[in-house]
Amino acid sequence: MKPVRTIEWIADHPDSPVPGHIRMVDQTLLPNELVYLETRELREVWTAIKTLQVRGAPAIGIAAAMGVATAVQDSRAADGRALAVEAGQAADYLATSRPTAVNLFWALDRMRTVAAHESGRDPETLKRLLAREAIRIWEEDIAMSRAIGMHGAALLKDGQTVLTHCNAGGLATAQYGTALAPIYVAQEQAKRIRVYVDETRPLLQGARLTAWELMQAGIETTLICDNMAAQVLKEGKINLVMVGADRIAANGDTANKIGTYGVAVLAHAHGIPFYVLAPSSTFDLTLASGGEIPIEERGADEITRGFGRQTAPVNVKVYSPAFDVTPARLITAIICEKGVLQPPFDQTLKQAVGGGERARDDRESKQH
Ligand code: MRU
Repeated sequence: MKPVRTIEWIADHPDSPVPGHIRMVDQTLLPNELVYLETRELREVWTAIKTLQVRGAPAIGIAAAMGVATAVQDSRAADGRALAVEAGQAADYLATSRPTAVNLFWALDRMRTVAAHESGRDPETLKRLLAREAIRIWEEDIAMSRAIGMHGAALLKDGQTVLTHCNAGGLATAQYGTALAPIYVAQEQAKRIRVYVDETRPLLQGARLTAWELMQAGIETTLICDNMAAQVLKEGKINLVMVGADRIAANGDTANKIGTYGVAVLAHAHGIPFYVLAPSSTFDLTLASGGEIPIEERGADEITRGFGRQTAPVNVKVYSPAFDVTPARLITAIICEKGVLQPPFDQTLKQAVGGGERARDDRESKQH
């Protein structure tokens, strides 16, 4: 398979990362058009994240990091300290784009750390270091997704069928994805895996994005409406569920696209394993449980006028949480780049990120 390049940094000259720009797939136009959005503008990066032109927790983090790098590259700051302040301001602004995916804050913190630690450098050097850090975040994401794919593929047997929700594929990351990575790796291992895809109301990330990328890769794909999952599980068509995550609290409670919790309840009721797949950049061990995860609410239009057609009375009252929290007790295992983490997650998550030290560092630096 030749994967689409969801997001990347394009340097103007091969010998230096700056000046450069961000190139990303405009995911609002899929599956009908594959169009790339190219930008050097901070405001356009903010809008791209807000409007889901780039979406999926890891991809949001990468876009934000690259956004900071573009924001400062034309700066005339007199010294590194002044440039570091500008980078911090760009990070603060991008942090207001979406609240739930912790990868956004994690990536922005990495950029802030470079700006702070290297503020003694001259501005041109600091610009290069910031762009390099954004590219490193992108590279690390590819490696983490690949590792998740390897660990997850070990759970997949030839001929099995996976149910997934939303899009946690290559389009949601730098490459491979999280929930879909094991399917791509299994394909390389010549296992035949089928995938049922929830369409994922209201923005149809399953129908528009997951079905598209799986079919591009030649995976047998069956699209279902969200409300068909119970029947499909009851009919015995599914061997296991694999979903991504936007934020995983210290006890394993997991925020992911709205509807994920319902799928977890259904999987539990039918005795089907339910796996969450996410890089450790999605862990937020500063939060004791999922109740503390901020849940984004989105506008009424996405439900009443989805994709331009009025499908509900004008002015009807709408409630639209974009994410829900699946309680840890419904999760069979969490698969990250370090391996397959089993319950009790309060212990295994901490072990995976290197114990209490990292958790404490996170608490000091992460925003919510
Ligand atoms: O609103 P979205 O499309 O950004 O939501 C995306 C999801 O919920 C994904 O499942 C999650 O970010 C994991 S992506 C590897």
